Amino acid sequence: MSSIHRTSVSPAETRMVAAGLAAVCRAGDVIALVGPLGAGKTCFIQGLAEGLGVPKEAYVNSPTFILLNCYCGRLPLYHFDWYRLRGPEELGALGPEEYFDGEGITVVEWADKFPPGDM
Ligand SMILES: Nc1ncnc2c1ncn2[C@@H]1O[C@H](COP(=O)(O)OP(=O)(O)OP(=O)(O)O)[C@@H](O)[C@H]1O
Ligand SMILES: [Mg+2]
Repeated sequence: MSSIHRTSVSPAETRMVAAGLAAVCRAGDVIALVGPLGAGKTCFIQGLAEGLGVPKEAYVNSPTFILLNCYCGRLPLYHFDWYRLRGPEELGALGPEEYFDGEGITVVEWADKFPPGDM
């Protein structure tokens, strides 16, 4: 597996990097976002959405009390935020695997809260 390290110094740069990634994403790709509060995870998703051609009116923000949002672009973008999930049972009820193998791109904020073995 190869890895790329990239430091972003501004929200605009974070969005630009994400939009570039969106250009090469394919259906079934899953992107796990890990970082503390305010790290820029949602900002990254805004860039992904822009890169996928999600209409500007469909404002992308943290789902807050909504655990899943879907935005329609070149491919559907499924946006999970696991911050407020209390346990693997709540996660299981959302049925994330359906989205992981689906027709769109799945992006998960706070993905490290539930490692794959918990699902
Ligand atoms: N290089 C950067 N990349 C992204 N955001 C940045 C950067 N520098 C500063 N910011 C600012 O940091 C904040 C990041 O907020 P954002 O909602 O994207 O974080 P988050 O990781 O989703 O937080 P949360 O865990 O609360 O959902 C924004 O206010 C943004 O303007
Ligand atoms: Mg967020």
